[in-house]
Amino acid sequence: MSDSASAELLGQIRLHGRIPRHVAIIMDGNGRWARERVMPRTYGHRAGMQSVRDVVEGAIEVGLETLSLFAFSKENWQRPKLEVSALMSLLEEYIQREADALDDNGVRVRVLGEIERLTPPAAAAVSRVTAQTAHNTRLDLNLFISYGARAELVRAARLIAEDVAAGRLDPGAVDEAEFAGRLYTAGMPDPDLLIRTSGELRISNFMLWQLAYTELYVSPVLWPDFRRAQFYEAILAFQNRDRRFGKVSV
Ligand code: IPE
Ligand code: IPE
Ligand code: MG
Repeated sequence: MSDSASAELLGQIRLHGRIPRHVAIIMDGNGRWARERVMPRTYGHRAGMQSVRDVVEGAIEVGLETLSLFAFSKENWQRPKLEVSALMSLLEEYIQREADALDDNGVRVRVLGEIERLTPPAAAAVSRVTAQTAHNTRLDLNLFISYGARAELVRAARLIAEDVAAGRLDPGAVDEAEFAGRLYTAGMPDPDLLIRTSGELRISNFMLWQLAYTELYVSPVLWPDFRRAQFYEAILAFQNRDRRFGKVSV
């Protein structure tokens, strides 16, 4: 879609007024995109980086507070060694190439997941961009890397158990807020909208707690073809949803 088409969609989003605070995306379909071109899967991952750039810029234009991107799951460690190492190098390259632009645009980058499992150069790049952008306030960009929601929930339970065992927390005081405060997303709003690309109708162990009342939007478009216009279309679809949260609509 042309730039003028996405400008038109942005105008419609602004007219509607209700802007989601937090959008989360399961960026899926890189491998199939590459296969369609008879290319190796890593070619698709590289092409997907351009979509990340475009969607981050779109999120700033729309005025989101938080954009969460599922980039690499805990389960993805089980992929072939070559693919995993290519993904680690791409992460490093993405940070190296984008850190200054993200910083200039007021983006605060955070990486959520078991970052101690990353390769040392990827872990170093993550620490660098996190520190460099820590003061920014325009957009929070969460990169979920080496992340699994069940592991995140178990970790929160373990942290609570440790606090109880140490006498810092009364078991009777354990409530939803105490629990949510021990997730990687502590202090962030829950996603209003979850987008999954490539047409798959599953959550794949992403943000199981945080998605309780999130609106779901599945696009058939493969991630490397998912650009600003498709992102805006998802937000427009969200604006037409009736969110009831178990209540009766007014
Ligand atoms: C998403 O694309 C990127 C990662 C999961 C790292 P895939 O690599 O899953 O692409 P498909 O689903 O095989 O097409
Ligand atoms: C989910 O995609 C994880 C990411 C997008 C990082 P997968 O391709 O790994 O998910 P499944 O295997 O299709 O459920
Ligand atoms: Mg996939």
